[in-house]
Amino acid sequence: MSIIEKALNKLKNEDAVLNANMGSNLKGSFDDTIPLTVVATTNEIKEISNEINDEKLILNIDWKHLSDLGFAAPGSSNSEAIEEYRNIKHPIVNNAFGKGSEGITRANLILVTSSLPGEGKTFTAINLALSIANERDKKVLLIDADVARPSVSKVLGINDSPGLIEYLDGADVSFSDIIVRTSIPGLGIIPAGKLHKYSTELLSSNKMALFVEELSNRYPDRIVIFDSPPLLAATQGEVLARLVGQVILVIEAEQTLQNVVMESVEKLAACDVVLALFNKTKRNMDINYYGYGYGYGQYAH
Ligand SMILES: Nc1ncnc2c1ncn2[C@@H]1O[C@H](COP(=O)(O)OP(=O)(O)OP(=O)(O)O)[C@@H](O)[C@H]1O
Ligand SMILES: [Mg+2]
Repeated sequence: MSIIEKALNKLKNEDAVLNANMGSNLKGSFDDTIPLTVVATTNEIKEISNEINDEKLILNIDWKHLSDLGFAAPGSSNSEAIEEYRNIKHPIVNNAFGKGSEGITRANLILVTSSLPGEGKTFTAINLALSIANERDKKVLLIDADVARPSVSKVLGINDSPGLIEYLDGADVSFSDIIVRTSIPGLGIIPAGKLHKYSTELLSSNKMALFVEELSNRYPDRIVIFDSPPLLAATQGEVLARLVGQVILVIEAEQTLQNVVMESVEKLAACDVVLALFNKTKRNMDINYYGYGYGYGQYAH
C-alpha cells in the first residue's frame, strides 16, 4: 500500500473529506514525454557549477513580518508550528541524504504542489526552507517556480530581481545573476522573474531539465525546494514534477474533494516519491500518519 493510500485510508477512518481507496501506483520512472524545446550548451551548465557559490544580493529575512503572516518563525507565538515543520522535514531530508535516498532519482530536489490554488504550497515551501536552512549544516535553495503568479518574492520582500525565467530565456543571464543570498547563511532564493508568455515552454525546456540535473548532481548537499503552481490549474506543475525526486502534495483539510486529489495523484504517477501533506487542519484532528505531523497549529484565517 502506498503512503498516499495509507493517508487516505486514515482520513476515511477519521471521517474527513477524503474517503476512498486509491489504486494508483506512485512509483515510476522519469519519462521524457514532455516536449523539450530550448537547448542549453555545455558552457551554460558549467557556468552554474562555477558560480553557485558566488551569490551577490543579500536579503534580510524579516522574522517579525513572517511571524505576523503566520509563518513558523523562531520567537513567534506559533512555537507548535515550528515543531511540526521539524517533524515534516525529517522524512524529506532522510529521503534526500539518508538511507531513504537509495533508488530515488534527484532525491534532493523537492516540489511543493497542490491540486488547487490557495491550499498552502507557498506557505509550506517557505516554512520548510526556513526550517531546513536553520539547521546549521544544511543548505537550501528555494526556487519560485510559480512563474505565472510568483509569491515567494512577495512574501519575502524581493523586488524586481531577475529569476528563473530570465535565466531560462536569456543566453547572457548567469546563475549568479539570479540567486539571492539571504541573512540565513544556508538559504539562497531564486525568484520567478518576469512574466513571460512562453513560461510553460521555458519550464519544460531542455535547459530547465539540464539546470535541475546539474543542481542535483553537483550539489547533493543542498536541498532544493520548488514552489509550484497548482496541478489542476496549469500544466507547469506536472512538468516540474517530472524533474524532481520528491513531491509534496499539499491537501487543504476539509476543503479539497477526494476526486480532485485523485486527479492530482494520477498526474504524479511517474514520480518516485509523493508525500501527502494535510494542511490547515484543526488542532484537535491530531492526524499523524506515517511519521508526518499534519496538524499545523491553529489555522485561524
Ligand atoms: N497551515 C497554515 N496555517 C496558517 N496559514 C496558512 C497555512 N497554510 C496556508 N496559509 C495561508 O493561506 C493562504 C494561502 O496559502 P498559500 O499562498 O501558501 O497557498 P498556495 O497554494 O501557494 O496558493 P497559490 O496557488 O495561489 O499559489 C496564505 O495567506 C497563507 O499564509
Ligand atoms: Mg503559491
